[in-house]
Parts: sequence; structure tokens; C-alpha cells
Amino acid sequence: MQTLGKLRLGVNIDHVATVRNARGAAYPDPVRAARLAEQAGADGITAHLREDRRHISDHDIEALMAALNLPLNLEMAATDEMQAIALRHVPHAVCIVPENRQEVTTEGGLDVARQENRLGDFIAPLREAGMRVSLFIGHETEQIEAAARIGAAVVELHTGAYCDFHYAGEESRRDTELARLAEAAALAHSLGLEVHAGHGLTYDTVKQVAAFPEVMELNIGHFLVGEAIFRGLESAISEMRRLMEEARA
Ligand code: PXP
Repeated sequence: MQTLGKLRLGVNIDHVATVRNARGAAYPDPVRAARLAEQAGADGITAHLREDRRHISDHDIEALMAALNLPLNLEMAATDEMQAIALRHVPHAVCIVPENRQEVTTEGGLDVARQENRLGDFIAPLREAGMRVSLFIGHETEQIEAAARIGAAVVELHTGAYCDFHYAGEESRRDTELARLAEAAALAHSLGLEVHAGHGLTYDTVKQVAAFPEVMELNIGHFLVGEAIFRGLESAISEMRRLMEEARA
């Protein structure tokens, strides 16, 4: 039987900044959330600096880099501006995501296969600067193979559709999606890629993904920030950790 390595939890704090920005105030502070996440057992902090700065700001990235003991995973689009920001701060990791100004959240995975040369060139300086480069993709074989070819260290599998089907009560489509994610995780691992997963995960949906032996990290944000309203951020994160460990046991 395959032994399961430690599963890391990256806490995405974007929506602490969303609440702050709703009033243009100085609070709640994403750095404070990151510190609490660390106390609650997070292994890393994830923040998405979007082109339109709708939540995390340039100043947040600076403050997080200065304040954090945990590794920062900077999510960003494959643009020159974001590449320059990443090269200036050199966070532990970057995760390249597709970005579309009108979307409410990151809707799909990157099309690595169709822009292999461009993305290969884009990530080369990031890799050379020592950042762990991850590509946020769907479960399609062609995307995983292209990610391996261009030298990404990590693929993060998009779990959004699996979670959406779960809450829509579409069990058969949910299970098909989950099976595809499981196959994708195994393929990516066999090609030497580290496998992460995330998007839309909740207490109801996390265990099935945490149980994939190849998955080494989950990045979770929106649900945790929402749950924090009812039980506090530390408690919300601790419970997520507990469920992840239970699935892994
Ligand atoms: N992983 C990636 C690559 C993402 O873009 C996001 C959303 O910013 C997440 C994980 C976290 O998703 P959620 O906030 O739905 O938990």
C-alpha cells in the first residue's frame, strides 16, 4: 500500500482583504489573519495578487513578506507586471493562475498545452530565482504533460467543479469529477510533479481530496474565512486540519 506523506495546509487569506476593502478601511488585516493561521497549524499562507487588486494589495504582499514565518505562496497571472513583482519579493512559491477581469473567482485551470512556449519562458526566471513554481490546472492529461515538459515543480489541481457538483446535489457528476482528479494526481506524480489541490474546498468536500496519496498540499481560503465568522479563524482552521489528518490516517 502506498504510504501517505504529510499533507500541508496553505491558508488563503484573500477574503480577509475582501472584507477590509468593502469599506476601504485598514481592517481586518490579512497579516493578522496570517499570524493566527500559523498559530492554528497552517503550513503556509497563500495570497492572490489580482490584476485589478480587488482584494490583496501590493502593500499586503510587502507586509506579508516582512511579517511571516511561514512560506508565502503568491498566486498570480502570467503577466509581465506580476513576474516583476514576484522577482522583487522572491516568495517561497508562486502559483500561476488564469485570470479574467470579469470572473468572480478563478473559474478554470490554465491552458498550459496551448501556451507551452510562452509559459515555459515565463516561469524560467522565477525558477532560476529559486521560487517553487506551481501551475493551476484542470485534470486533463494534456495539461499535466505540458506542465511537466515546461519544468514546473508543482501542479495544483482545480477542485472547484467537484465542490460545485457536491453542493448542487449532482452526485454522479461529482464522483466522476473526483475520479478524474484522482487519476490526474497519479499521472502528475508519476511524471515527477508535486501535486497540490484547491478551490472551493469545505469541511464537506475536503476529505475525499485529502485522501489522494499523491496530494501534498491543499490551498483553502473562502470557506475558512466565512467559517471564521461563526467560530473564529483559529478554530475554523484547526477543524480543517483535523479533517485532513483524519482522511490521511
Ligand atoms: N488555489 C488556487 C490556485 C486559487 O486560485 C484559489 C482561489 O484564490 C484557491 C486555491 C482557494 O480557493 P478557495 O478560496 O475557494 O478555497
